Amino acid sequence: MKLRVLFCCTFACSLAFAAGQSKSSPVPATSAAQIPHLRKHGTATQLVIDGKPFLALAGELHNNSATSVEYMKPLWSKIAASKLNTVLTGVSWAQIEPQEGKFDFSALDGAIQGARSQNLRLVLLWFATWKNGLSSYPPNWVKKDSDRFPRAQMFGDNTPWPVFGGPRFQVNGNLSIELFSPLGDATRDADAKAFAAMMRHIKAVDVAHTIIGIQVENETGIQGDTRDRSPAAIKAFNGPVPQELMSYLQAHKDTLIPELRKVWEAAGFKTSGTWAEVFGNGRAADEIFMAWYFSRYIGKVVEAGKAEYPIPMITNCPQEGFGRAPAPLKGGGQSGGAMPDAFDIWRAGGPKIDMFGADIYSNDYAGFCARYAQSGNPLFIAETGGGSVDVKAKAIYAFGRHDACAFSPFGIDSMVGNPSDPFGYDLISQLSPLILAHQGDGTMTAILPNASDPPKKIQLGNYLLEVAATRPRGGPPAQAPGQGRGQAAGQGQAQGQGRGQAQAPPQQQAPAPVAMFISTGPDEYYAIGRGVTVYFYPAPNTPGQPLAGLGTVEEGAFVNGKWVPGRLLAGDDTEQGQYLNFRNLEILRFTLYRYH
Ligand code: DGJ
Repeated sequence: MKLRVLFCCTFACSLAFAAGQSKSSPVPATSAAQIPHLRKHGTATQLVIDGKPFLALAGELHNNSATSVEYMKPLWSKIAASKLNTVLTGVSWAQIEPQEGKFDFSALDGAIQGARSQNLRLVLLWFATWKNGLSSYPPNWVKKDSDRFPRAQMFGDNTPWPVFGGPRFQVNGNLSIELFSPLGDATRDADAKAFAAMMRHIKAVDVAHTIIGIQVENETGIQGDTRDRSPAAIKAFNGPVPQELMSYLQAHKDTLIPELRKVWEAAGFKTSGTWAEVFGNGRAADEIFMAWYFSRYIGKVVEAGKAEYPIPMITNCPQEGFGRAPAPLKGGGQSGGAMPDAFDIWRAGGPKIDMFGADIYSNDYAGFCARYAQSGNPLFIAETGGGSVDVKAKAIYAFGRHDACAFSPFGIDSMVGNPSDPFGYDLISQLSPLILAHQGDGTMTAILPNASDPPKKIQLGNYLLEVAATRPRGGPPAQAPGQGRGQAAGQGQAQGQGRGQAQAPPQQQAPAPVAMFISTGPDEYYAIGRGVTVYFYPAPNTPGQPLAGLGTVEEGAFVNGKWVPGRLLAGDDTEQGQYLNFRNLEILRFTLYRYH
């Protein structure tokens, strides 16, 4: 015991020393007086680190990168050079507790040290009972003991079950699968015990708050069937919906997520009964049943961890909603995760979970951002990539439109280093203080227009901004922004590498039109954009003359938080003062005025 305390002190001091050596604005090695936490700022929720709000400009490593300190060595500096301030990295239960009760935190300590050496923060992904709707991360002593740690079962109807790339099972009847049942209390307790041990260790060694949050499990859900068909699960499904859940639904009836409310309403808003009686005979009842048991289980793991060290905790799932995923038996879909339709079930089952992280690979990026940001869930984009919108545009949109607290493309190992700013974080970090100051008060917005969309009028401050994707003069809508002032348009995202990347991004993506606007005074705005044009009009019922014009337009940059203007723009660069034309990704400061 004494030895462990001594080790912790030495390690904590060495981390503090590393902090002092880091290249820029080191975070002081504070006492644990103010640990990472969340706070409300208007309607937004902010991460607060060392007393200051923090925008996590993050990236997620491939699943197993940080299990090897050696593998990570050359990566830390590349990550920092690519302007990230936060890394999401998996920690493996099997590696941390190879034998029951015997813990090995050396890989985790290596990750903390590596991150600290580059002044980076970490969000750990607790890869434990569940990862991607299966269970590959528990230690062997858990995997091998099916009596103590029961498996979920699927019901096969002779349809092939293609799991990650090919038919594997074709069964008739019940089959145990490589997924631990969420009704297994012993599995839950073992996971919670290991998690608590890890959080205790982090509290002891991480005095500099390198670790700012934990995602508990990863993409939880069942696949192969819509619900667990193990004997315990079948019994529970045929029994009553727990009173705890019924009370939550009744207390929140008017504010429930609409998709859940509709399911409950269609079955008659019953206040008691079996799952099928309360939620109907369809697939939704199965998904709600699974969401309840997964959330109860993860909620207990979170509680055990928070009892040791209560930093922000997240859980995530694939992005679908009730019945939207492909039918599980046809492959690909998962049931029971913390998807938007099920937020209320998860809140009832796991009240200590702070956020439901979004893994967005869909082409409907804006739609999924909106669904994850509903009903007060802070937008924490734990994974993204691929789709029709490039990562730089996605980041700008998430922070500007939905007050995101974190944005994290997946599989950064092979994306960092070249190009030097793959995710646009250089520009976004310049704007971070302004973004944080304006979160949650209605003075900031963003837009991701499609090339074919009609112009959209957005009110911000005293003006209407009419925004559209740039169109070539007299020509059809542009597919991608044109070239103009300065350098070539930003590069698309490079492809991730690694095993099993079912959702890896495509090789190249055309830079998508995007803009973010921040209203900083009655007539003053800062904006970042690319491939959009903006016209201005006085907003209805605002003071002043009936016409609006462009006053001062400046290129520039924030240097140490202070605006340093570059060229002053008019004439050809503002279409003779008629409108703004964002060509390459750039920050502009502009003022408007009224005339008649
Ligand atoms: C989503 C998962 O959450 C990640 O851990 C990883 O497996 C990716 N899919 C692979 O594309």
